[in-house]
Amino acid sequence: MRSKGQIEHDETDVADPRELEFQALIDSDQRIEPRDWMPDGYRKSLIRQIAQHAHSEIVGMQPEGNWITRAPSLRRKAILMAKVQDEAGHGLYLYCAAETLGVDRSELIDLLDQGRQKYSSIFNYPTLTWADVGAIGWLVDGAAITNQIPLCRCSFGPYARAMVRVCKEESFHQRQGFESLYALSHGTTEQHAMAQDAVNRWWWPSVEMLGPPDTESTHSAQSMAWGIKRFSNDELRQRFIDMVAPQAVVLGLTPPDPELRWNEERGHYDFGKPDFEELRRVVGGDGPCNRQRAAHHLKAQEDGAWVRAAAAAYATKHPAASAAA
Ligand code: 3HC
Repeated sequence: MRSKGQIEHDETDVADPRELEFQALIDSDQRIEPRDWMPDGYRKSLIRQIAQHAHSEIVGMQPEGNWITRAPSLRRKAILMAKVQDEAGHGLYLYCAAETLGVDRSELIDLLDQGRQKYSSIFNYPTLTWADVGAIGWLVDGAAITNQIPLCRCSFGPYARAMVRVCKEESFHQRQGFESLYALSHGTTEQHAMAQDAVNRWWWPSVEMLGPPDTESTHSAQSMAWGIKRFSNDELRQRFIDMVAPQAVVLGLTPPDPELRWNEERGHYDFGKPDFEELRRVVGGDGPCNRQRAAHHLKAQEDGAWVRAAAAAYATKHPAASAAA
């Protein structure tokens, strides 16, 4: 016969078989699907990250959308329109992926508009000249794909699958940014100066957008154990610098980091310390454009309410036609 202590001990030791099955799937690099049991923390962490990611895609349309009417040629305008449209599509895939976890996208959008969910710090910086569109493509989309390629192997199936398509489009975005900046950098003296100025302003915010340093990252350890994140913030930051530093040479532009240099011994570029205090401030709501971005998003939501209501009314009236669409 077992003592009370033994019973208590045995009971706490017996893991939930569903938890074991879940961990076995993660450990064997299988995907968790929406129908599978998952710990509450895993579900919550995914909703948090996917929602933040979706919001970033949508708010991220604002800084570049600002230049659609002022693009310097029809070709550049067509490319920029397609790119901004791609970002809207990425937001939709991501809201759909979040919905498989049992939340509704309208709840997530409300949380964003109430300031209770975040979007990426990077979209709180202004686009002052046409060269900023090139710098965003090269640096911001460059940092975004460095972070997102590993997410194609994220343990949650719908998020990983959404990322495959997103990454294909993002890599096109990065190339178009590079090409646009290259044209400016190799143009007139004024164009070169405009490209350099854009790189001076976008370099550090792009390095910082990969998140706080590992020592201050609250979610990394658990997200990595769950196979949501495959690399830490600092590992991705190093990968990003290693990718863009040699590209800057081809562009003929100088990153605003006097400490940037190849380290033969490490097989990586050394770089200066990002201003994580600034990242904290911008994430906390005090960046150059936080208020403007939030107000614009809220206004677009309100202005579009009648369209959503009309679409919902149509879907109720004609369910077959709506399902086919
Ligand atoms: N901007 C805003 N918030 C940030 C941030 C940033 N650049 N970096 C970190 N944070 C927040 C985190 O969300 C977390 O806050 P929370 O607890 O309130 O959610 C806090 O700072 C601590 O950071 P952690 O490192 O602990 O957070 P994560 O482990 O989640 O890592 C991340 C942060 C690397 C951004 C990760 O969430 C991630 O990989 N997300 C998916 C990709 C994504 O959202 N990218 C945004 C850019 S998308 C884009 O750029 C669109 C493209 O079209 C250009």
